[in-house]
Amino acid sequence: MVTNLFVSRVGIARYIYLVLGVILVLGSWIPALRVVSPQLSSLPSFVHSRVHWKEGDHSEVSCSTKNFTTLFSPSSTQLGIASEVYLISLPWRQDRRKQMGHLQASKEISWTVVDALDPSDITIGHIFEQIVSQRSLQPSKGPLDDLESIFRWPADINAIASSTEYFGASGSDLWTSADTQNSRHTTLSSLSVSHHPNVTCATQDNSVPPFNPSLPDWMILTAPKISCWYSHVSAIRQFINRVNTTPEDVAVFLEDDIDMERDIEIRMRHIWPSLPHGWDMVFLGHCWSNESFYSALPSPQVMSPLYDLPTRSHIHPSYSPRCTHAYALSLSGARRLLQHLRYPPFAYSRALDQAFSWLIESGRLRAFSIVPSVVIQRKVLSSDIFPGSGVGSAWREHLVNGVFGT
Ligand SMILES: *[C@@H]1O[C@H](CO)[C@@H](O)[C@H](O)[C@H]1NC(C)=O
Ligand SMILES: *[C@@H]1O[C@H](CO)[C@@H](O)[C@H](O)[C@H]1NC(C)=O
Ligand SMILES: *[C@@H]1O[C@H](CO)[C@@H](O)[C@H](O)[C@H]1NC(C)=O
Repeated sequence: MVTNLFVSRVGIARYIYLVLGVILVLGSWIPALRVVSPQLSSLPSFVHSRVHWKEGDHSEVSCSTKNFTTLFSPSSTQLGIASEVYLISLPWRQDRRKQMGHLQASKEISWTVVDALDPSDITIGHIFEQIVSQRSLQPSKGPLDDLESIFRWPADINAIASSTEYFGASGSDLWTSADTQNSRHTTLSSLSVSHHPNVTCATQDNSVPPFNPSLPDWMILTAPKISCWYSHVSAIRQFINRVNTTPEDVAVFLEDDIDMERDIEIRMRHIWPSLPHGWDMVFLGHCWSNESFYSALPSPQVMSPLYDLPTRSHIHPSYSPRCTHAYALSLSGARRLLQHLRYPPFAYSRALDQAFSWLIESGRLRAFSIVPSVVIQRKVLSSDIFPGSGVGSAWREHLVNGVFGT
């Protein structure tokens, strides 16, 4: 295989990269990162100032002391960088599960399937009741500024995110904990609510526009949007509450209508070292946003010889990413994200991807996006559960060399 590389059209360049790669792996990794580190200060200011995080929390593990071993722990075998992969999928969508089975076999991914909550499940009705009740606590009159000034994120989010204590139920977890035991195994009862109240999607932290039948779909809170939120939260919680977690753990969360680059592992391993310490979230795919708005993070100047220069992936600070079909979370990022998603005035307030992008835009999450996407939505099978994710919409993307050829 190596000889073939040398006779390819960019054989010489590849040979150079191969040699550099070997040198790097053999010991120049630490100096390489030192060269990169100062440039991290040229990140857009939001990465430093928007986020209320304590640099000191992790000072004992600064970027420059990382080496190849700590960057990719022996458990980071999934997709090149992750210890866990979760596939969120409705149990009865056998068409999609079959296709994802093909992807799994082809890429040899070992993932945990998380059954998505059926949008007609009675649990959804209970969540709607809680949202309505939560909103009745807010003053319904008055200028927007007054409403916003009442909202405060809990002060302990950073502390809980960086700890490794058991992540007990709290906030909106308690809205459903009783139902899930009872309703998970009941068939969809006649009580399953098809007439939910007319509820709008909040914007910003929690500004709730009045309902009006002419509002666009993305402004109306629907059962599938709530189901999507609930299902992702369940998957993230599984990641957090595993036994023997370590702070270096990374999980990737996937929806069930995706395609990915055949060489995704090489791409991920190439860009991962650019991530600053303390990152929360990385979008492997995204929609409806120019995710190259902020400059790409500087990357170590060495890449795998197997990875074509013209098609390389870059990583940028996230701008306003939509779609939830493929993202990675660090363990502390997962804990930070769930603390926000279950805070009662914010929980289930809108489509999940709207929540992600607001948390990112408002500096609550340190998120990055891979550009171009290395995982995309295929959109060949109908969507039941992720209508907030641009399905049926005009957003289309292609991979360089996808498993399904998308
Ligand atoms: C890299 O880090 C690991 C874990 O901290 C350590 O055991 C190993 O000795 C380090 N290697 C180098 C070359 O510093
Ligand atoms: C929701 O709004 C529509 C259109 O205004 C109306 O026909 C329907 O009865 C409302 N549903 C509820 C539960 O209020
Ligand atoms: C995205 O933003 C960058 C930086 O502002 C700009 O150079 C680029 O043209 C934009 N791309 C698109 C598709 O708008």
